Amino acid sequence: MLYDKDNWGPAPSNWTRPHLLGLEDLSAEEITLLLDLANRFRNDVLDSPDNKRKIPLLVGKAIVNLFFENSTRTRTSFGLAGRRLGADVVDFSAATSSLSKGETIVDTAKNIQSMGIDGVVVRHVCPGAPQLLAKNLKNCAVVNAGDGTHEHPTQALLDLLTIRRRLGSLQGLSVALVGDISHSRVARSNIFALLKLGAKPIVCGPSTLVSHYWEALGVRVSHSLDDILPEVDVFNLLRIQFERQVVRPFPSIREYAHLYAMNSERLARCKKDALILAPGPINRGVEITPDVADGPQSLILEQVTNGVAVRMAALWATLTAAERNAQ
Ligand code: NCD
Repeated sequence: MLYDKDNWGPAPSNWTRPHLLGLEDLSAEEITLLLDLANRFRNDVLDSPDNKRKIPLLVGKAIVNLFFENSTRTRTSFGLAGRRLGADVVDFSAATSSLSKGETIVDTAKNIQSMGIDGVVVRHVCPGAPQLLAKNLKNCAVVNAGDGTHEHPTQALLDLLTIRRRLGSLQGLSVALVGDISHSRVARSNIFALLKLGAKPIVCGPSTLVSHYWEALGVRVSHSLDDILPEVDVFNLLRIQFERQVVRPFPSIREYAHLYAMNSERLARCKKDALILAPGPINRGVEITPDVADGPQSLILEQVTNGVAVRMAALWATLTAAERNAQ
């Protein structure tokens, strides 16, 4: 039984998915359930007044971090989340693995599973890699930590949790995702979740990086940050994903920053309490200037703290659902 000794309670029985692959298919109720759970982990465990920042809900479980793409905060965050729940967490490094000897990702994962693991956290450059593992692994939870340009569900959940903790609800909020929307899995997961929870997302950036395709889903598209400044409640400033671009989408970084960087002059034209988010890594001087990144309206480091809570929620919910399904 996955009850803890301090009356934490059972895993939510209305969460039935053994995998968290994206937010596109989740209902508003499922997203809210994960946010509520994460909020509880944040308040009762991470901010525990007696500093007991561990809760033994996944003792005896083993989780492997399968990261085939670079990562600092996401991998560390998942690792910490698993350990805070009492699980054993093993890091797998693509650079030193047998993949370089020609092994497929499914064979690698099946071999790791044969050692007895309960959960896989996967980041991969190919969209769909987590789905492939979910199909091929038995009785094992799969959590997507970012698949190419497709989805990054836990990043969007931590963005939403950060907004919700500050403003109470997402309903009716104007949330601008600014930057490289075309290559951003963070933007896609955010858009799906924001729409489901009643927020009004705007995607903003140069026309080479922001498609009007999003309008079909009810998202507003703007190519001028200056135009939308006065009406937005939350700005989520996304990094230009140079590593995914085949051709340069604008003449120079200086020109991009001139038109789209959030700086103190632009911030002064925003609502007084507008919030500043960024998934990180941030490029100071490109999408955000240092004074804004480090200023009082910035919640960038708060997002990172909430990330651990969200990943605790995702791991607990999926691993317990996988265990239930196996019975
Ligand atoms: C994001 C990612 O990897 O997609 N970062 C993250 O998870 N912390 C965004 C980015 O790389 O710009």
